Amino acid sequence: MASSSSAILLLLISLVGCFFSNSTANFYQNFDTTWGDGRAKILNNGDLLTLSLDKASGSGFQSKNEYLFGKIDMQLKLVPGNSAGTVTAYYLSSKGAGWDEIDFEFLGNLSGDPYILHTNVFSQGKGNREQQFYLWFDPTADFHTYSILWNPQHIVFYADGTPIREFKNMESNGVPFPKNQPMRIYSSLWNADDWATRGGLVKTDWSQAPFTASYRNFNANACVWSSGASSCASNAASSTSADSAWLSEELDTTGQERLKWVQKNYMIYNYCADTKRFPQGLPPECKTA
Ligand SMILES: *[C@@H]1O[C@H](CO)[C@@H](O)[C@H](O)[C@H]1NC(C)=O
Repeated sequence: MASSSSAILLLLISLVGCFFSNSTANFYQNFDTTWGDGRAKILNNGDLLTLSLDKASGSGFQSKNEYLFGKIDMQLKLVPGNSAGTVTAYYLSSKGAGWDEIDFEFLGNLSGDPYILHTNVFSQGKGNREQQFYLWFDPTADFHTYSILWNPQHIVFYADGTPIREFKNMESNGVPFPKNQPMRIYSSLWNADDWATRGGLVKTDWSQAPFTASYRNFNANACVWSSGASSCASNAASSTSADSAWLSEELDTTGQERLKWVQKNYMIYNYCADTKRFPQGLPPECKTA
């Protein structure tokens, strides 16, 4: 009797555990659709989110939580076919005049021509830190994982686990680093055919609308900000669990080599190499010893 009821209890516990740990109701729990009048949709019991864009409007969503540091993964499948003129933005941002922001923006293209992955980092309202990449895979054929590691030492952008960009904390050189303002996750799909594709030469073909981008498998190992305090402030510093390893994660040798590989083979624009743009000298974070 006792053993059969404890077996049932165990079964119940594991069912409940399974309920919480898998991604069922993932998007319902973590995000709100914010604009686009029904063009942003949460589907499949919360496992899938889609944004769409047509001539009348784009659409967007945002996280319910704000975060202060985290390792955040999302799988995206971008607008396929002729996506010229469309931009899918996926980013973290705080609010107010001196805001911080960490950006992925995917610039669409004609069928068969490559997307550009545009990245930027704003600290205290100042950006102008663009780096752009082609990808080594077709981001429209399937879902791929885009991650942001944001801890006190650096910000790292990843595609499918490969680091593509590192923005180091260079406060010691007078470069502000995002570390005091909690950020929310945002994403939107919108029309930017005045600049996005070949600098605005290729316009959106509205006969292809609606354009759709899809999201799944959101995962955040992060410090959630609530009522003016971080969920990590009390325990993370003293915690040694694997769950908070990201808070002090650095790029290991393999990571550094892969980052170099991407930058050598796939980077198509780097503000730190744009001496024409900065005639008074490159920004201080570019001068790595
Ligand atoms: C689109 O394709 C053209 C031609 O290959 C390329 O120059 C451009 O960088 C691609 N991406 C965008 C977003 O314009």
